[in-house]
Amino acid sequence: MEPNAIEMLGITKSFPGVVANDHINFTVRKNEIHALLGENGAGKSTLMSILFGTYEADEGVIRLYGSDVKIRNPNDATALGIGMVHQHFKLIHNYTVTENIMLGVEKRYGPGMLDIKTAEKEITALSAQYGLRINPRDTIEDISVGMQQRVEILKTLYRNAEIFIFDEPSAVLAPQEIDEFMDIVRRLKAEGKTIILITHKLQEIKAVAERCTILRRGKSIATVDVADVSQIQLAELMVGRAVKFSIDKKPARPGKAVLDIEDLCVKNWRGLLGLKDFTLTIHAGEIVGIAGVDGNGQTELLAALAGITKPECGKISIDGKDITHARVKKEFREAWVLFLKTGKNTGLLWSLPLLKISF
Ligand SMILES: Nc1ncnc2c1ncn2[C@@H]1O[C@H](COP(=O)(O)OP(=O)(O)OP(=O)(O)O)[C@@H](O)[C@H]1O
Ligand SMILES: [Mg+2]
Repeated sequence: MEPNAIEMLGITKSFPGVVANDHINFTVRKNEIHALLGENGAGKSTLMSILFGTYEADEGVIRLYGSDVKIRNPNDATALGIGMVHQHFKLIHNYTVTENIMLGVEKRYGPGMLDIKTAEKEITALSAQYGLRINPRDTIEDISVGMQQRVEILKTLYRNAEIFIFDEPSAVLAPQEIDEFMDIVRRLKAEGKTIILITHKLQEIKAVAERCTILRRGKSIATVDVADVSQIQLAELMVGRAVKFSIDKKPARPGKAVLDIEDLCVKNWRGLLGLKDFTLTIHAGEIVGIAGVDGNGQTELLAALAGITKPECGKISIDGKDITHARVKKEFREAWVLFLKTGKNTGLLWSLPLLKISF
């Protein structure tokens, strides 16, 4: 029998105060689409970062195609044919597609002479082969997030990856882009690649994956054939208890208006309007979801509601009282600035919107 593409055996990785991966066994067959499912913090990204060499496991063994390997860093992973498309892309925005893809593996005519033409040809050929429809001369900042994701895929193909790891690839995509992404994944499989897909979205797993491994609180709970399980069963394995998709409850009876947002405009970190003329009223007893692909104004809305960012225009009232220009305490603002600069969330930030909106 053909050996498995990947075997991760007894993988353990601790961070201060948390065992992110607790003796995890994870096996992927060659040329399968394997989903990795788990709640937030279950350990999915950690496990894949170990496979890609970003983290080193405290314990455990990794085998590729039946042989033990040591993956100390992403260069080792790349040399072994493993590529990873992260949730937050690692592209240089003012470089072209070709320059981004070449970076680190440049072809040269001679010292200092980059062979961009040959690279462009190769990228165009790969793009056609996988149906990616990428123009190698476009600049990253001019193309959509969906296209940027394809550049990351091309980067990985260009480095001859056989194993693809996607970390929550659909989180940044609009619905139509998700369908196109699924087609790309099917194409990768048709070309003989092995694919690991981290996702929370059960319908995506049902749509493309053949097997699914479920992680819960750092442990591998099960590996199932996707055809044999329903979305409800997957959800139950993920959370570890019975799950109901339909909830029996009386319709909400909202009370008086509590939070009033009128024509709110807020700048993003680039100084452009990230939120434009946003209007919303929330009533007592209501739960209001804000839906949107990452980067469409949610962050700016919360920052303005919490008083960390000053709105450019519009009004925010609570119980009829104008709080548009109320400020948050210094320590919260500092936590926010730290988050913007480093991406580090001290934990204080999650309580920010609650600080000013208490129902
Ligand atoms: N660099 C780190 N330092 C400290 N703790 C970390 C680090 N990376 C992950 N963790 C912790 O390890 C646990 C597993 O995190 P991980 O990111 O692997 O989860 P995940 O399943 O990918 O979750 P999500 O769906 O939110 O992406 C979490 O408790 C997380 O807070
Ligand atoms: Mg993750």
